[in-house]
Amino acid sequence: MTSSPIREHNADMSSHRLDPHSYFDALQPRTRHWDLSWNVDFQRKVIQGEVTLYLVEASRGSLDLDTKGLSIQACTVAGQGIPFQLGEDDPILGRRLRLELPSGTVAITIAYETSPEAIGLQWLAPEQTAGGRQPFLFSQCQAIHARTLVPCQDCAVARVSYDARVTVPAALTAVMSAGPAGESLEGEGRTFRFHMPQPIPSYLLALAVGELEGRDISPRVRVWAEPVTVDKAAWEFAGTEAFVAKAEALFGPYDWDRYDMLVLPPSFPYGGMENPRMTFLTPTLLAGDRSLVDVVAHELAHSWTGNLITNATAEHFWLNEGFTVWAERRILRVLHGAEAESLGWALGQRALEESLERFHDQPELTLLRTHLAGVDPDDAFSSIPYEKGARFVAALERDLGEETFAAFLAAYMRRFRFQSITTEQFCDFVEEQHPGLLARVGAEAWLHQPGLPADAPVFRSARLEELTALAGGWSVGQRPAGAEAWSATELLIYLQHLPREISLEGCERLDAQLGLSQRGNYEILVEWLCIAAGSGYAAVFPKVRELLSSVGRMKYVRPLYQALGRTAAGKDLGREIFAQTSPRYHSLTRRVAQGIVEKY
Ligand code: BES
Ligand code: ZN
Repeated sequence: MTSSPIREHNADMSSHRLDPHSYFDALQPRTRHWDLSWNVDFQRKVIQGEVTLYLVEASRGSLDLDTKGLSIQACTVAGQGIPFQLGEDDPILGRRLRLELPSGTVAITIAYETSPEAIGLQWLAPEQTAGGRQPFLFSQCQAIHARTLVPCQDCAVARVSYDARVTVPAALTAVMSAGPAGESLEGEGRTFRFHMPQPIPSYLLALAVGELEGRDISPRVRVWAEPVTVDKAAWEFAGTEAFVAKAEALFGPYDWDRYDMLVLPPSFPYGGMENPRMTFLTPTLLAGDRSLVDVVAHELAHSWTGNLITNATAEHFWLNEGFTVWAERRILRVLHGAEAESLGWALGQRALEESLERFHDQPELTLLRTHLAGVDPDDAFSSIPYEKGARFVAALERDLGEETFAAFLAAYMRRFRFQSITTEQFCDFVEEQHPGLLARVGAEAWLHQPGLPADAPVFRSARLEELTALAGGWSVGQRPAGAEAWSATELLIYLQHLPREISLEGCERLDAQLGLSQRGNYEILVEWLCIAAGSGYAAVFPKVRELLSSVGRMKYVRPLYQALGRTAAGKDLGREIFAQTSPRYHSLTRRVAQGIVEKY
């Protein structure tokens, strides 16, 4: 199974594009470091500034960079302007910025400004924050949005270290996916400096600016949030140091110095994002009972699988997420027992089945190793790389046995630290370490065929079967025995196995018995609201409206709009909420919601 990681996309033999989502050309000079100097302008909703791109070696000739929505003001080398040319605007890739470098170029400085519509940024009005007093800005660069913040080789193969100077209004604090390197007051503004010494893929560039305060959880772990939520956040995530210790036992030493977290305003479109040294988290994790902290275990595990060893392109995304889900569940087992781990796999099985169903007509998106030329990675996103990927990792472990697999993981970490690799490189390594293993587990089917192989690992547990049976036998008014003592995961599994449509009386009784509409755990709340709204139980409509008017996490927004689509009254409500709220949605959330509402 030897194959080159470099694939040709063009007939033109003088160019080597290896990522369908980037103009990065492997034959051209490579960037090794960025020096960013940014001014964050909340009035105009733009970042204005410059970047100096340092090259691996003195170079000359063409250099192609990715940009999207950027206005490029000047490109200079050693203080001299150089010619540059912006290509056609591709709806997915954006515009290629082609520079002609004079001989001996070691660094290029580009002065530019972002667009107020930059997909990688969301600018929030004070009302969209918890405190309500100050505006907020955050970035989300994965998969291919770093190019809306900075002109760069926006391909994970071109890793860079970076320094940054970020000037913000004096009342606000800036954090980045980097170590802090000082701050100073400058006129009207406050300037924060950052240093990221390790080479990272561009999608891990991250910035947030707002009214922020930090609380230390351990000498190397701190949580940041708005002042009104920071104590709640510190309580919720108090166990994070224990996660770091467990993850180190699994994968080797934590290599990123600090593990800090930032709790964002509710419009953040994901549950979490593994920005190095500063994981970004949705505030919907603040359930008040620490029941959603597995998301932190997941983002932390990316410090190894994803941030140390990175998918070369979005076509190899399963390498990031499959390994990380597997690791997250292993951390869960070590801390909370085998039963908790199997319930985690059970929740995953459900998400996997939903994604397989969603891509029924696009089976090519159910491969682990995908082919995404012409496909927006945000449209290809699903639970498949996560859950099918994690099951493939579990299949490898099942064959090798736990101990041998642990040694394999350690060797994998050593071999590919700080590298961005393809599925083919991964397979070559497996074959080298354990000849015959890929064939034994049927890797060909896992990686290159749609759906799930028939011998995929299935995780059983007595508890799971009890809960499924209880839910299967549910009838109106029947109180599920022992429900008061259930964990959040148990209740969630029970709800997931109830019928999708139940009578109005059934809804009312269930809500009264289990207090579902008042739950602080959003997984439970949203699962319930989907059943209730999908059943036409209008008593939950105000709650649905409240949630969809603030929360932007796509994992919740998608099923809720879909559930509303099941009844005429729900459709009216969905249309109305969308019309009212969509200007305030993150652009990714807006696209997901719009796609659903338009099909009503
Ligand atoms: N890296 C992802 C989030 C992501 C993926 C952002 C692709 C943009 C493009 C993050 O690690 C993640 O998987 N988050 C999950 C957490 C869950 C699996 C525990 C989420 O947001 O739900
Ligand atoms: Zn992840």
